Amino acid sequence: MGATAPSVVVSAPGKCILFGEHAVVYGQPAVAVALEQRLEVSMRPAGSWSIDGSALTAERHPHITMLRDTVLGAEAPPMALHVRGDIPSGSGLGSSAALSVAAAAGFLQTASSGPLDTAAIAHLAHLAEAGAQAGRASPMDTSTSAEGGVVVLSDQVEDDAKWLYTRTLPTPEGDRSWEIHALRPPEQAVHLVLGNTGIHAATSAQVAMVAKTLAAHPERMRDIEAIGAVARRGLRALMRGDYEAVGHAMTENHVLLRHLGVSSPELEALVRAAAPSSLGVKMTGAGGGGCMVALTLDPVATSQAIELAGGRVLVSSLLNAGVHIHDE
Ligand code: MEV
Repeated sequence: MGATAPSVVVSAPGKCILFGEHAVVYGQPAVAVALEQRLEVSMRPAGSWSIDGSALTAERHPHITMLRDTVLGAEAPPMALHVRGDIPSGSGLGSSAALSVAAAAGFLQTASSGPLDTAAIAHLAHLAEAGAQAGRASPMDTSTSAEGGVVVLSDQVEDDAKWLYTRTLPTPEGDRSWEIHALRPPEQAVHLVLGNTGIHAATSAQVAMVAKTLAAHPERMRDIEAIGAVARRGLRALMRGDYEAVGHAMTENHVLLRHLGVSSPELEALVRAAAPSSLGVKMTGAGGGGCMVALTLDPVATSQAIELAGGRVLVSSLLNAGVHIHDE
């Protein structure tokens, strides 16, 4: 590439899982939505590579350096990166994936300006996330952040959604493959209210706990299949714009996740508090801590109920943009 790189500002949304967490690890469908909360990365030519004023190093920023080296090459003219946004980190809302997506888009735009190729961005960001997580990241967070809207992941092409692309990844347990779809539900005045317990539980530990349960009790695979059936019902309800049925499916999904052992007393307290004012309510993500999500027509009442029960609240609409290059 040339000697001077242009400046670029990119943003990408966080995500929350409406249906299918944990079961997606065993091939069942999962549905995630892009949030209003976003992360913005600005990149400007500079004397040396830095991020928020500190030197950019592979040890501290493996995702970003991997993306830079893949897209621009290690010899590229240096840039100063600045990151800001309102996605809380370590809470299961996809802040790390949003950073990888925004960085991938920014580096691609630096290499050659033109329309954004969201499939290429999602691919690069997924490889960066997987590289930093011992090859075990699913493409749910990165594809949802890149594509925006509602994204469905499955091990098969789902009839009820628009197929976008296949993602494959060599993992320590062998090659894995996902079919990625977009869903365009009719718009309605429903809101997501996210309640953050403020407790951080490692996704890998939660996923390992489910694997242990299934190894000890193979018959519990029926619970995983039940989550898959609820997720399919939920995605069909979303397609029809039947948000009452979406809410019922969310609540049913929560009961199954609780039975699987991945909820926590703090999540249960927030779920109980939000339920009376919501169409549906569930934990979202790996569980053990992190966030719950309520689908509601009354975001003020639901937010107040969650806050009174000790949760930190974020409110989001349902249909939000994916990765976006900003005019400066
Ligand atoms: C974590 O956000 C979602 C899980 O299903 C793990 C995964 O899909 O890789 C628990």
